[in-house]
Amino acid sequence: MKIVIANDHGAVALKQHIVAWLKAQGHEVVNLGVDVEERVDYPDQAELAVQEYQKGSYDFGIVCCGTGIGISIAANKHKGIRCALIHDSYTARMAKEHNNANFVAFGGRVEYAEPVEQMLSIYMNAQFEGGRHTQRVAKLDALC
Ligand code: RB5
Repeated sequence: MKIVIANDHGAVALKQHIVAWLKAQGHEVVNLGVDVEERVDYPDQAELAVQEYQKGSYDFGIVCCGTGIGISIAANKHKGIRCALIHDSYTARMAKEHNNANFVAFGGRVEYAEPVEQMLSIYMNAQFEGGRHTQRVAKLDALC
């Protein structure tokens, strides 16, 4: 898969961990930073990732901040972006099966009960169910 990723200063280590894992799995990753703990604003990082994703050819995007909350809110302000704030295997699977999320968000300062790579793997291997979810996702996309 081809994946774009961006983060703020609250998630440098997590982002680097995710990038290393994705590359080890053979995926192509475009890392838009930041890679040092300089303070940046998460709406700006979300915008960078979304603009890159919207060029096409990407399978999905990942955004990370301290909690994952701010950067997921920011990503979701952009038309066509459905960013899921994932926190376990169940939400990872549902993000794809029900919401057809094209972005996922994680928090670098969050203590997850499951490894982030496990959650990512579940999301990446899940399939959108379509059916009754299709019109709901269409309604999401009509919101902005
Ligand atoms: C930055 O200090 C922090 O507010 C940010 O990373 C994120 O957690 C916001 O939602």
